[in-house]
Amino acid sequence: MSKDLTPAIERVLFTEEQIERRITEVAAQISERYRGRNLKLIGVLKGCVFFLTALARRIEVPLKIDFLAISSFSTKPAAPGVVRIAKDLDESIEGEDVLLVEDIVDTGFTLRYLLQTLASRGPNSLSVCTFLDRTSRRIVQVPVEFRCFEIPDRFVIGFGLDHNQLHRNLSYVAVLRPEKNF
Ligand code: IMP
Ligand code: MG
Repeated sequence: MSKDLTPAIERVLFTEEQIERRITEVAAQISERYRGRNLKLIGVLKGCVFFLTALARRIEVPLKIDFLAISSFSTKPAAPGVVRIAKDLDESIEGEDVLLVEDIVDTGFTLRYLLQTLASRGPNSLSVCTFLDRTSRRIVQVPVEFRCFEIPDRFVIGFGLDHNQLHRNLSYVAVLRPEKNF
């Protein structure tokens, strides 16, 4: 653990080894489900990047990858905001078996918007795989088919998740120390 990063961390939730083991299990479930189909992973930038690349390397069926980015505008960080697509997919998803890859599902507002938008583009199937799930804060019900970890109601950083764009590069997931302003 780097000395520069430790002040931001209250405790480690999932170590690099735990994350690797769990991603391998979820990748096996995905390989099973999508054998013989047209799998396309769609990552939601930027938080998904670390998870998506780790997951994709362990999936044992052919797949394509595309990305989109969203912006959400909200007066309060925890309040549901207006979500819009800031960077769209490069290619069509018509007829493909789309697996939307998220870093974390919290209230569910972001995911609901993305699922509605992608469903309108005629994929053969549309499912969700999230690295982290905080079901205790869910406001809108969204279908999450694959998940690595359920987490408590605390703000987390690492393995792609940021706080003010920092800490994505931690190889583990940690609870952010609340009393400090990093
Ligand atoms: P939702 O629309 O409330 O489900 O928002 C989910 C989005 O909020 C995620 O894609 C993250 O970008 C962000 N987010 C929610 N909780 C956390 C957290 O604990 N750490 C970092 N980002 C988070
Ligand atoms: Mg996200």
